[in-house]
Amino acid sequence: MADDPLVVGIETSCDETGVGIVQGNTLLADAIASSVEEHARFGGVVPEVASRAHLEAMVPMIERASAEADVALDDVDAIAVTAGPGLAGALLVGVAAAKALALSLGKPLYGVNHLSAHVAVDQLEHGPLPERCVALLVSGGHSSLLLVDDVTAAVEPLGATIDDAAGEAFDKVARLLGLPFPGGPHIDNAAREGGHITLDFPRGLTSNRDLERHRFDFSFSGLKTAVARWVEAREQRGEPVPVADVAASFQEAVCDVLTRKAVDACRATGAGHLVIGGGVAANSRLRVLAEERAARHQIKVRVPRPALCTDNGAMVAALGSELVRRGREPSAWDLPADSSMPVTTVVA
Ligand code: KG4
Ligand code: ZN
Repeated sequence: MADDPLVVGIETSCDETGVGIVQGNTLLADAIASSVEEHARFGGVVPEVASRAHLEAMVPMIERASAEADVALDDVDAIAVTAGPGLAGALLVGVAAAKALALSLGKPLYGVNHLSAHVAVDQLEHGPLPERCVALLVSGGHSSLLLVDDVTAAVEPLGATIDDAAGEAFDKVARLLGLPFPGGPHIDNAAREGGHITLDFPRGLTSNRDLERHRFDFSFSGLKTAVARWVEAREQRGEPVPVADVAASFQEAVCDVLTRKAVDACRATGAGHLVIGGGVAANSRLRVLAEERAARHQIKVRVPRPALCTDNGAMVAALGSELVRRGREPSAWDLPADSSMPVTTVVA
C-alpha cells in the first residue's frame, strides 16, 4: 500500500553485501554481492577479505537496489542496517554506509539485530507474523531457537549451539568429503544419491541427562568428529569413502536434532507456528522433516524461499519497515556495530 513505510535495508554481517528495499511487506528490490568465492580456498569466511569486499560492493549495491525498485533514495522513509551480531569489521562497513546515507538524506536510522531480521523477512513471503512463533535460525554463523511474540520488541532466546553452528558443521563435513565450500548445498545434493547404507551418527544434546540442562540447545562438534573418525578409518583401510551415504547420514543427524528440538520448543511454549531461517533453511531434508514432524502436532511451518533465507538486505528492510510502522524509536547517530549483540536487543 502506498502509505506503508518504504525502507532501505543494509546487510554486511558476514560475506554478503545486501541492499534491499521494501514497502510494508512488499519486496521491491534485493541487490546482493557475495564474496563467498574469495573465501572458498580458505574453507571459511576470512573477516578482512569480507570487509574489503563490502567496501567495494556497497555503493554499487545501493545503486542497483534503487534502480531495481525504481525508487529515488530521497523518497524512502528510513534506513535500516544490521548492527550485529556478526563480524566486527564487516558490520562496521554497513553501519558507516547506513549512517552516511541516513544523514545525507535526512532520514531516521535503525540499527537492527541480524537474527530478528531473519525472522521478519518471512513477512515478505507469508504476510504478517502470528502473535507467537518459535524461530529456528540456522546458518554458518548461528543456530538458535527463539520465542518471538513481537519481532520488533520481544525476542526471547530459548537455546543456541554450544559449539559449532549448523551451517559450519555442513561446511566442515563437506570439506572432509572433498566437497567445495560452502558445503551445505553440496551435501544436500550428494545426500539425494545416498541412503544405501545408513550410518548411525550421534545426535548431540539429546540424551535424557543433556535434555535436563540443554533442552533447546544444540551441539554439532561431536557429530563432526564422529564423521571425521569414520572417514579416516575407511581411508586407513584403503577403502573408498561412500560420499553420498556419509552425506545423507550426517544430514539426517543434523535435521533430526534441529526439527525434534524446534517442535519440542513450539509445544513447550504453545506456539502454533515455526519459522525457519538462515542458510541451512534451504536444506531440502530439513524442510521435509520439519513439515512432517510439525504437522503431527498441528504446528504450521513457515520457511521463506531460499534466496530470502540466506543473508540479504531485504530481511533488514523488512524488519525496518515493521519498526517504522509500529512507531518504534530510531537509533542514535553514534550507533555502534556490535559483533556480539544479544538476541534480546532488536534495535540498538
Ligand atoms: O545465512 P547464510 O547465507 O550466512 C551466514 O552464515 O550467516 O548461511 C550460510 C550457510 C553455510 O554454512 C552453508 O553451507 C549453509 O548455510 N547452507 C546449507 C544449504 N544451503 C546453504 N546447508 C545445508 N543445506 C543447504 N541446502
Ligand atoms: Zn544470517
